[in-house]
Amino acid sequence: MFLTVFFLLVALCTQGGNGKEGEEAQRPGHVSVVIVGGTGDLAKKYLWQGFFQLYINQVSSGNTFSFYGGGQSPTEKATPVLFEILKTVSCSKDVSQERCALLKDQFLRLAQYRQLKSLEDYQDLAKHIEQQLQEEGMTEAGRLFYLSVPAFAYADIAEKINSSCRPKSGAWLRVVLEKPFGHDYRSAQVLASQLRSSLTEEEMYRIDHYLGKQVVSKILPFRIENKKLLDPIWNKHHIERVEIVLKETLDVKGRIAFYDQYGVIRDVLQNHLTEVMTLLTMRLPKNVSRSEEVLGNKLQILSSMLPLGKNQAVIGQYQTYKAEVQQELNKTKDHVSHTPTFAAVLAQIDDAQYEGMPILLISGKMLDERVGYARILFKNDIFCIQNHNNVHCKPKQIVFYFGHGSLQYPAILVSKNLFKPALVDSEWKEVTEHKDVNVFGLPISDFYIQTPMEQKEAYAELISHIFFGQKNSFISTENLLASWDLWTPLLSSLGSTFPRIYPGGADNADMLDIHLKGKDISYNNEVVIISTDQLGGTSTNGFQVMQGKFRSSEMVSAWAEQLVDKLAADIQEAAEAAIYEGGVFHLALSGGSTPLALFHRLADHHFTFPWRNTHVWMVDERCVLPTELESNFRSLHDHLLQHVRIPYYNIHPMPVHLNQRLCVEEDGGALMYEKQLIKLVNSSSFHFVLLGVGYDGHTASLFPGGKVDELGDSLVALTESPSKPHQRMSLTFNVINRARKVALLVMGKGKHELITQLSRVKDNPDKWPVTGVKPTNGNLVWYIDYDALLG
Ligand code: BG6
Repeated sequence: MFLTVFFLLVALCTQGGNGKEGEEAQRPGHVSVVIVGGTGDLAKKYLWQGFFQLYINQVSSGNTFSFYGGGQSPTEKATPVLFEILKTVSCSKDVSQERCALLKDQFLRLAQYRQLKSLEDYQDLAKHIEQQLQEEGMTEAGRLFYLSVPAFAYADIAEKINSSCRPKSGAWLRVVLEKPFGHDYRSAQVLASQLRSSLTEEEMYRIDHYLGKQVVSKILPFRIENKKLLDPIWNKHHIERVEIVLKETLDVKGRIAFYDQYGVIRDVLQNHLTEVMTLLTMRLPKNVSRSEEVLGNKLQILSSMLPLGKNQAVIGQYQTYKAEVQQELNKTKDHVSHTPTFAAVLAQIDDAQYEGMPILLISGKMLDERVGYARILFKNDIFCIQNHNNVHCKPKQIVFYFGHGSLQYPAILVSKNLFKPALVDSEWKEVTEHKDVNVFGLPISDFYIQTPMEQKEAYAELISHIFFGQKNSFISTENLLASWDLWTPLLSSLGSTFPRIYPGGADNADMLDIHLKGKDISYNNEVVIISTDQLGGTSTNGFQVMQGKFRSSEMVSAWAEQLVDKLAADIQEAAEAAIYEGGVFHLALSGGSTPLALFHRLADHHFTFPWRNTHVWMVDERCVLPTELESNFRSLHDHLLQHVRIPYYNIHPMPVHLNQRLCVEEDGGALMYEKQLIKLVNSSSFHFVLLGVGYDGHTASLFPGGKVDELGDSLVALTESPSKPHQRMSLTFNVINRARKVALLVMGKGKHELITQLSRVKDNPDKWPVTGVKPTNGNLVWYIDYDALLG
């Protein structure tokens, strides 16, 4: 009945559809659109308007439609609610009032509410669709289900759709899902596999509405259009940093039940900002509409990101959030939430093009303004002597301005001292009339600006892509999991971190300003200074570095981070003293995981370390190939040596691989190392030896019961470990105890038991090898973190 009226009305409508790539690829026919959650907030605000837009564009394309709003409520109750919503849809300016009224009338006639609760409800819907098709003698093009419901309901609904609502072969099924897609890697994986049991990857459309924003969707076309000019400067040598920012002024009142479980990182950074980051940095596809290539290139970037840890993020929470949580979640006054409402994260890509280039992802609620943008700030290599207002002295930048803020419209801005960009799309225009507006402190007349002729809603854009089956603006399962793989370790490491409380709005002043230092990010006004003269005292922030005695040697103790800072500073001090005295510094380093934090500290913060005059030796090695992950040399290389400028001939790996075999006595590897050491290191006395201690009390590769006294006078020996790989090469106490300085680094709660035991036992190197570390003329210092010391 609806359809007959529809056909009559279609004949009156003459305006053409909004053809896009892919349109030809699907045969025209009847399309059934089902919004599950059709009377909910999202549907009310964006979805029905988006589908009305689709209808307007497609009305004369040969396709026909029926629209169903589905929900839990009974039909009598929800039908009037749905129609109140449908009455609010509107046409764009280019549609005449008369035509708009006509189209709206048709749209309303094609829509109906259906209760969609039980399997029978879905079966009835399928029967209804098939009956209509038959009655009207129409071919079916496809069925589009938009799940605008909480994520916990997805798997169940997908199963019902699969078992009862699949169209006959030849017609498509598309199921649209809204975030959150999981809470972390594990939950996203579980949800993905539940969905995969009902739907194919092809059938799933995971929405990220940022990909529908006009400016975001033009990032790739802009890069392609301007490829010639961008190629030479789109890299770490020319880009100072990339900022991807979404600032909001609102709080999260009314959404706390959801928000408190997610927080800003899961709500915005893991999805919207990550997507923008991939678009800015991915390798350009040959064809933007080839989704396989686009998604593949995005995946490649995600998998080359450096891991994100605690040092790559700062978090905050607006002041009244706590009270809002207490009220909305019915909590007592002493309830505290750690959920961040603000976060700034420093990401980096570990590849030749971008290595070391800071990418900032920032978002927060209750900030001073609502604005979203991605800004590429270039290094400026022009030095102006006098006229600083000259265009060449100004910052060079490209800004993808999503909207709001001082500009109030979406736009792409390019500094005039960079280049004049080509227009990204024939539906875009150049802005030539400049209002008296500033962007990042510069008048907008400093930029070439382009903007869409007509502003379009992100949801309407994406709905049209779904209709045309353009999958490149949606999140594939692989991409989703790769993004969670990046964010989950950071989320876990922030678990117990307390966010900085900020007052909200303009009062935040400089409280949330951030500071970048190498690979780390921190709040600007929270610089932790640990220097030698603060030893034994309290630093400005209440962190303490204690000095005391352990097994009658010197001991330094602090929280892990400060302890590592102190040890790194001590090593640099020893290096400078040795080089001042004799022009060279001989450093022997242990393997294992404990020193990794120290290696990172040295690589990322000690830019003045005298590596040119430093020789790096190994305390011990596992008898494996240097390419194996277990190799101490490989770990030393990956975490330290490859990041610093040390001459190759100053690096001394242990020769465990000779004559194409590992650690065979006759090959004389240990002796070779010993000879090399005697030749280069004055009196075989290292300036600094870094040791660790294992759970069984071993140090270097000298294990309990290893009969160290049987090693005679040798400086280097092959030894046996009780754990795999069993064969090792190690410095012996003969050379360790000749060192000027020996540091014994012990960290982590897991070592507390051992430290307690070691504080009690007498020297017994056979049982507790570490007790054999007794430098004859040198100095032993234990560096023990609070976790290991206090448990
Ligand atoms: C949503 C988040 O996905 O994006 C919201 O859940 C956030 O918390 C919103 O406010 C921002 O989107 P937009 O389009 O307003 O920038």
